[in-house]
Amino acid sequence: MITLGIETSCDETAVAVLKGEHILANLIYSQAKLHARYGGVVPEVASRDHLKKLPPLVAQALKEADLNFSDIDLIGVTQGPGLIGPLLVGLAYAKGLALALKVPLLGVNHLEAHLFAHKIAHPDAEPPLLGLIVSGGHTSLVHVPAWGRYREVGATRDDAAGEALDKFGRLIGLSYPAGPAIDELAKDGDPRAVPFPRPMAETGLDFSFAGLKTAAVYWLRDHPRTRPEDLCASYLEAVVDVLTQKALRAAREFEVKKIAVVGGVAANRRLREVLPERAKERGISVYFPPQELCTDNAAMVAACALFHHQELGEESPIDISAAPNSTLGAMPC
Ligand code: KG4
Ligand code: ZN
Repeated sequence: MITLGIETSCDETAVAVLKGEHILANLIYSQAKLHARYGGVVPEVASRDHLKKLPPLVAQALKEADLNFSDIDLIGVTQGPGLIGPLLVGLAYAKGLALALKVPLLGVNHLEAHLFAHKIAHPDAEPPLLGLIVSGGHTSLVHVPAWGRYREVGATRDDAAGEALDKFGRLIGLSYPAGPAIDELAKDGDPRAVPFPRPMAETGLDFSFAGLKTAAVYWLRDHPRTRPEDLCASYLEAVVDVLTQKALRAAREFEVKKIAVVGGVAANRRLREVLPERAKERGISVYFPPQELCTDNAAMVAACALFHHQELGEESPIDISAAPNSTLGAMPC
């Protein structure tokens, strides 16, 4: 079974080819440089670039997999959530190709796809598990009793974890997306240098990161000479501490012994240290996909489509539209 995966929900054009669950090609073209001077993703700029980059990237992925268009058995494409223009570019291409090749099409939920990065990386660490999805647009805790069954048990009430890092990065003059640079600077900083708050850490499973950003604004106003390394280490520590406390609380409440962390922020070095360490004391195992499967990619989209098609017998109608606001488990066709 050869699955072609296409991801264009935000600022990464990504194409993957899977044979079964094995990755033959996984290509990502990041638009980050294109958007850096605006301090965030400009939807129209993103759409136009996807339009330009997607067709050659598909051709390149097939070449790397040593396959032709006629070898494709299934096409999985991100349907939402995401930016409507970028989503429509991927969907239009995928629909055209599915019609031309007479193969089934599957519209994939981007958040569910992030969870499938865990399935690819750790096929033996099966549900029941708790998913912690931490990206630029989302921060959710998801109870996964089995693949295909999801219950969001916690979510952010304002900024996502990655967004909190990106906005803080902008404050201290880092370019977008700031997560990787903060990760790097924090290595040489003191995480206890600045006493940033841990918003909502003590209660419930929902998150709130807007107050943390405000605390950073005031700290910078009153202490403009703080070393960037110390600022980054302290800010990151607050984000990591909140994510860790909530994930462990959810694992206890839902009595699961596995936590799968996915999404761009799962690439973070400090999170990869702290959460497994604190989880170990409670007999909980924590799994992170390799770096290239944390941030947006199409291998996770293809794997998700493959599961829905093979295990659940699903196929999307050819007239599916983009679902920019879709949530996990609620994908309009
Ligand atoms: O999953 P992703 O590629 O795109 C979305 O679906 O949003 O996540 C991008 C987010 C950005 O906010 C970026 O700053 C953050 O992931 N990120 C990181 C790291 N690498 C990417 N945050 C912290 N540490 C990293 N190493
Ligand atoms: Zn994502």
